[in-house]
Amino acid sequence: MGERVKDKVAIVFGGGQTPGETIGNGRATAIVLAREGARVMVVDSRVESAEETVAMIAAEGGEAQAVAADVTREDNVRAAIEACRSRFGRIDILHNNVGASLALGDAPATELEADAFDRIVAVNLRGMWFACKHALPVMREQGGGSIVNISSMAVRHSYPYVGYKTTKAAVIALTENVAAANARYKIRANTILPGLMNTPMAIEARVATGVPREQVIAERDARVPLGRKMGTAWDIAFAALFLHSDEASFITGVSLPVDGGTAVG
Ligand SMILES: NC(=O)c1ccc[n+]([C@@H]2O[C@H](COP(=O)([O-])OP(=O)(O)OC[C@H]3O[C@@H](n4cnc5c(N)ncnc54)[C@H](O)[C@@H]3O)[C@@H](O)[C@H]2O)c1
Repeated sequence: MGERVKDKVAIVFGGGQTPGETIGNGRATAIVLAREGARVMVVDSRVESAEETVAMIAAEGGEAQAVAADVTREDNVRAAIEACRSRFGRIDILHNNVGASLALGDAPATELEADAFDRIVAVNLRGMWFACKHALPVMREQGGGSIVNISSMAVRHSYPYVGYKTTKAAVIALTENVAAANARYKIRANTILPGLMNTPMAIEARVATGVPREQVIAERDARVPLGRKMGTAWDIAFAALFLHSDEASFITGVSLPVDGGTAVG
């Protein structure tokens, strides 16, 4: 066990994962935070998936608890934050990982249905705001905290579906707003922009549209400039660990690409 976030309490929204062959960003982040000494509240609308994450943390000797919450419901988000506080006594780290695109019915601007657009806003953007809204008073009272919101490099690149692109862009604005308004309380807020990652969320949704898995993976690998393949969830988890740790105590309001160089390639 490391000590980079020792004695801190983390709440990870979307800490379960989409089923698949690899590990998801939220689960890997919850595991890495626990390995580095944090106690972790793992929140997910599919509580059985959060429980799997908790079991993986417990198997390594870490401390975690699962709680069910749908981030589209403010009462659920508030209850999850209260559950974290009542179980662990505080909240030092808020990690907002929930997000999806195709799985929520995303489509190009000419084809997207209004209810799908509303659903994507509710899951990808409004849920992160709910979590900030209810965690910030706790962090202010404690005298500090760290928030990381997960956006996407789809914001910077051409991306075919309008719901994901626009909500992920808004996540950056949300984070900058929260960072500016809460700096005086020693609360930091930063965004991570994952690039092409080999996670179930990214791969399985495309495989489900009928493209062979090997083709999906090969095409994504080929687009990464850094001399390796797609990133993994561990790349996101290590970036999040740094931003949540005191090593990043002078860093707030930034948007960090974790993308193998696609932003410059
Ligand atoms: N994988 C990539 O290539 C990639 C690239 C860019 C950005 N991202 C971002 O990373 C994040 C997700 O990564 P992941 O690999 O952990 O995905 P994941 O799908 O494995 O995990 C997301 C978790 O959120 C949960 N969830 C979904 N809707 C919810 C809701 N309404 N309330 C509560 N929980 C809900 C899911 O059950 C799942 O366990 C997203 O924000 C995504 O946009 C991923």
